[in-house]
Parts: sequence; structure tokens; C-alpha cells
Amino acid sequence: MTSEPGPSRNGSRTKSGTIVVVEDDASNRILLTRILESEGFAVLATGDGEAGLATIETADPDLVILDVGLPGLDGFELTRRLRLDPGFVTLPILLLTGRSGPSDVVTGLEAGADDFITKPFSRDELVARIRSALRLRRALVGMEAAHAVVTALANAVEAKDVQTEHHCERLALLAGRLGTRIGLEPVELDAVTYGALLHDVGKIGVPDHILTKQGPLTEDEWALVRRHPEIGERICAPLRAFAAFGPIIRHHHERWDGAGYPGMLRGEAIPIGARIVGLVDAFDAITHDRPYRDGRTLDHALEAMAKEAGHQFDPDLTRIFADEIGRMAGQIEEAPLDAFALLARRIRPKGMANPLPERGAGRIATPRE
Ligand SMILES: [Fe+2]
Repeated sequence: MTSEPGPSRNGSRTKSGTIVVVEDDASNRILLTRILESEGFAVLATGDGEAGLATIETADPDLVILDVGLPGLDGFELTRRLRLDPGFVTLPILLLTGRSGPSDVVTGLEAGADDFITKPFSRDELVARIRSALRLRRALVGMEAAHAVVTALANAVEAKDVQTEHHCERLALLAGRLGTRIGLEPVELDAVTYGALLHDVGKIGVPDHILTKQGPLTEDEWALVRRHPEIGERICAPLRAFAAFGPIIRHHHERWDGAGYPGMLRGEAIPIGARIVGLVDAFDAITHDRPYRDGRTLDHALEAMAKEAGHQFDPDLTRIFADEIGRMAGQIEEAPLDAFALLARRIRPKGMANPLPERGAGRIATPRE
């Protein structure tokens, strides 16, 4: 291969991946290229920052090594520019520097670099740092892919019923707030967020004409609707994080008094994530329009839910949720563009008449669950 004057290869991938090297010192550039190629990487080597940026944008490499002291566009500036591009947010950037003082490290980290290689470098350390950065990137890409699957599934549910548009996103926001308030650990919060996004994914298995039916459901139709937690559990079982959020999907229609489904679990036997999602699901259903009634005010919703504390809902959780909603409502004017403000805009002012009769009196969960 040749590294002069432009990229040494045309981007062909190898088993180990593609690395772009931007280093103006020719002997170092050649040394790096030889080492990396002997480790199974495809290498694209250039000698200046502008050409390096163009190469990275074209080749979409798995990792880049940038010399800090490049003429013109230096390694710090190149790093900053790459991090401004959403496509390169997870790209591992290793800075090559002869100056390993704290200010260089701080500047590099602030620019968005992942790691540093000090010249002169040892081959073993160089390869170890590269493999470590690539492992981290693979994990991040895996998380991105999992998130994309979850989002696609959540969108598939909402596409079945335009009345529930953004319902899952609002639920994830509210469930996250409530989970944070009661001190859930980060992994539990992740599970609650996924559970909120996917709690109704089983509706994919319920016929559209039942979900959007204007009149009362027959007993058989109700039986089908009530299968959605178990259908959702089966749909999501192959997902890697399923063990954490699967119980939320399965049990989000359980009731504190044991009269829910599918397990008729009672009290604290209901997973905490399922109690949270069940509560915020009911709140969102009350405060938003449905085919058979207009959305109600926040006060109406909280009053109705307080009556069900200890029956449908965990009483402690209901009290804390009401307090949290009060806090969030107080923040609406300060942050008018946040997600809760979007939610609040759709809630009629307190006292406005409700033109449509409410169905399912005495029971809070939405009739379409
Ligand atoms: Fe549901």
C-alpha cells in the first residue's frame, strides 16, 4: 500500500475495521499504517486536516487517529468539527500527541476526543487502546440499534390509532419523572422508559376495528383487548433488555386491589415499573381526547385518580404522582417548549365544560385500555 499523497486505500473494509490516520509526519504515518494493517485493519492515511476531514466523511471509518499538531486544521479543531456531525457522535477519536500535559488532555476531551496516544508510542499500547475504543463503540452501536427497534415498535402501535399519537412518548416522560422522584436506580429507570414506550405494543395483535370502535365493546371484543399485555410480552421477548421491562408490559393492567389482569396480582406483588406505567397511562388517558369524550383537566384527572388510590392504584405512588404533576404544571410557563408543555396545551383550562358524556364511569382506565 502507499500512503502518499492521499488516502492509502479506497475504503475497502477488513474484518477488523477501517481506521483513518491523519498525521503530517510521514515516517510516523507510515509506521502507524504498517502496524494497523498488520493487525488486520484497512488504513486510510493522510497528511493534513482538511484532507483528513474529507476522507472521514467519505469513508465513514470505524475509528480515527488524529495528530494534534497538524498544520492548518489541527487535531482539536478536526475533532470539534466531527463531533458537530450527528453521524460521527459515536466515532472513536484517538488523539496523537507529543505533548501529554494536562492542558492538552483537557482541550482534547472538551473537543470530544475519546483517548490519547503519546508519541513515541508502543505498538502494544496503541493496539490495546484501539481495540478498547472499538469495543466501546460496538456497545454504543448495539444500544442505538436496540433503541431504534423499540422506537419502531412504539410507532407501530401509535400508527394503529391516531388518537394515541405521542401517547407513548408522554408516558415515557411522565413515568421517568415519577421513577426518578421515588429514587429508582438508572437501570430501573431505563426499564420503566422502555416499558412505558412499549406497554401497549400487544395492540398490534388486536384488530383495528375493535381499537377504534365508537360504540360499546362486546364481551368477546373485550376479551381480545385484554389479551394485549400477553401479546406484547411475546412480541418483545426476543429483545435483549426484555428481562428488565417485560414484566411492565405484562402487568400494566393489574390493580392494587387484585382485580386487574392478566395475573390478578395485588399490592406490592405488582412490579413497581408496572404500577408506575399503569398510573401514568390512566392519567394520560383521562387528560387527552378519545373518540367518545374530550380530555379532562389536570385537576379532574388527579381527583379521579385520588378516589382510586388503594383500589386501582398504589396509594403512595398516586400521592407522589399528584405532587409531581403539580410541580411540572408550575414549570410550564418557565419551559414552554418542553414535552410536558406540549401535553399541557392539549388539556382544557380548568372549569371548561365537557361537551361529551364520559363512558366507563366508576372505572378510570380507558375503555380501550
Ligand atoms: Fe394497555
